[in-house]
Amino acid sequence: MMAGIPLVAGNWKMYKTPTEGAALARELRQRLDRPGGPDGVDVAVCPPFPALPAVGAALQGSGIALGAQDMHWEKEGAFTGAVSAGMLVDLGCRFVILGHSERRQHFGETDATVQRKVRAALAAGLTPIVCVGETVAERDAAQTLAVVTRQVGAALEGLPAADLGRLILAYEPVWAIGTGRTATPAQAREIHGALRRLLTERGGGPATRILYGGSVKAENAAALLREPEIDGALVGGASLVAEQFARIVEATRPA
Ligand code: PGA
Repeated sequence: MMAGIPLVAGNWKMYKTPTEGAALARELRQRLDRPGGPDGVDVAVCPPFPALPAVGAALQGSGIALGAQDMHWEKEGAFTGAVSAGMLVDLGCRFVILGHSERRQHFGETDATVQRKVRAALAAGLTPIVCVGETVAERDAAQTLAVVTRQVGAALEGLPAADLGRLILAYEPVWAIGTGRTATPAQAREIHGALRRLLTERGGGPATRILYGGSVKAENAAALLREPEIDGALVGGASLVAEQFARIVEATRPA
């Protein structure tokens, strides 16, 4: 069952200066803003930290929400280079991506740090987009379900059931990120179904949106989004081009 309104979120990664980001945000507004507000799809963009103020200003009054790509779990402290949830909220962020595979791979993110970040984000009123997914070696070793089960279990450990509807999961097979290879709708269906069961076992309901990510493009978005347990998309490369991102949003819009 589709968990409410679908969400299409753009993960800009380490692309776009503040100036470039503001220009992209203005172009997205032109393409996506409709009179009376957004229509049937929630849309968010997650620029790099330095671009958040400029992009937030460019999106002011639009239906497009702002998100960040990571945060620290502490409120403040001697953590050189880190950014807190409160700082993101103050900049107008509604969402924060947590546990992205690039953070896990290049920056030492672990299941344990993701768990702390999820709690801190929820406490600050942010909606975490918690990323899980297997590497190609794990898929080849038939470990996919075990890996995502472990990742989700750690991220959600100790959370009251009522909080499950306040977060979003994103299934992003690592082998599909930035590679042009997408999970087939059937592969995504299997994992999204398993994630939904994990949420249900924890007392969560259909309110938690489960996004798919990994080489989502305008051409494949509609087929993926037709799957009943795919509640939206986390889009990397194609979110950097307004025309492509807007086409993905249009493909997601319920008829
Ligand atoms: P991609 O990235 O769309 O470029 O594959 C997705 C992501 O990393 O969130």
